[in-house]
Amino acid sequence: MSGINIVSTGGYAPLLAVTNDDMSRIVDTNDEWIRTRTGISQRRMSNCEPTWYMGAMASKQAIERAGIDPKEIGLIISSTITNDFVTPSAACLIQRETGAVNAAAFDLGAACSGFVYAVDTACRFLATDDSLKYVLISANENLSYITNFTDRSSCVLFGDGAAAVILEKSDKLFTSWLGADGTGAKFLYAKNEYAHSPFTTEEHFTVDDQTDPEVKHRLLVQDGKEVYKFATKALPTAAKNAADKIGLDINDIDLFIPHQANIRIIETAAKNLGVSMDKFFTNIDMHGNTSSASIPIALNEAAEKGVLKRGMKVCLVGFGAGLTLGAAIIEY
Ligand code: UT7
Repeated sequence: MSGINIVSTGGYAPLLAVTNDDMSRIVDTNDEWIRTRTGISQRRMSNCEPTWYMGAMASKQAIERAGIDPKEIGLIISSTITNDFVTPSAACLIQRETGAVNAAAFDLGAACSGFVYAVDTACRFLATDDSLKYVLISANENLSYITNFTDRSSCVLFGDGAAAVILEKSDKLFTSWLGADGTGAKFLYAKNEYAHSPFTTEEHFTVDDQTDPEVKHRLLVQDGKEVYKFATKALPTAAKNAADKIGLDINDIDLFIPHQANIRIIETAAKNLGVSMDKFFTNIDMHGNTSSASIPIALNEAAEKGVLKRGMKVCLVGFGAGLTLGAAIIEY
């Protein structure tokens, strides 16, 4: 598969910062527990900013930094599990806000692996359509829409935010690998609530026997220990599988930008890969886990801080609900 160039990045962080002390006022927790078990000090939370709005703000910044005409964007992929609407997609609203009038637009749902899935998808579109000049990916998440703020083991983890990239086709090094394990769906889920048709005869048809009927619709349910176990294996597996596809030595990667879910998960994954933590960019302390937005938020920050430099080989690697996992190795 031919490669891609990241032309530019952009980001949007909601202004509302929620500290660990703030969390301790709503559930039985404390700053020390959250920091030592997760690495999180604070998270940003939307104060009524819709998901599409955060995505549009991040996208506008990426477009401006790229110095391109939004009319040259041929495709918008929005990664989200927290769209404001069942329909339309967040991608269509981002198209409306950015003036990317010539772009096809759709949402992609692969939970926290969503950005990596979107990069892989964008690369394939660019490889097969010569008329496509630029792809905009925006990963936008309002996890506060679906967080159970009475569950201390999960509510302290999540934050809101968005980040975007403009991609174009290039001959630069690129490889990616995507995976999923649906048998782990029960470890991290949020149920939707739909109206029953007048022809419904069954009370319930749950895809998962362990689905708790008492759990409020739309709120996240998580078996933290199971997700933790999966995550520490998923990150090295995805990175290695992507590298192996082109015979790349994992030690030749200059920077890893992993999904920011828990600093201990990242440390264990680094150890399992045999790579120093110095090569891992983390910003979980200030953002918490923003699902599919977490990798591009970190990518944008790494680029802004000059940690990520042109020519570097960077591995974007994620895992999440589904269960899903994936990695994309790109020359920046
Ligand atoms: O994008 C993917 C999303 N999810 C993840 O990546 C989550 C992966 N899992 C994790 O990050 C960790 O499993 C957690 C952070 C969720 C939990 O950390 P842990 O070290 O696995 O804690 P634990 O579940 O073993 O709980 C240890 C203790 C328990 O108390 P007891 O039973 O030992 O008395 C919990 O009730 O900590 C308690 N606890 C808390 N205490 C204070 C759980 N949550 C909290 C809390 N504050 N927020």
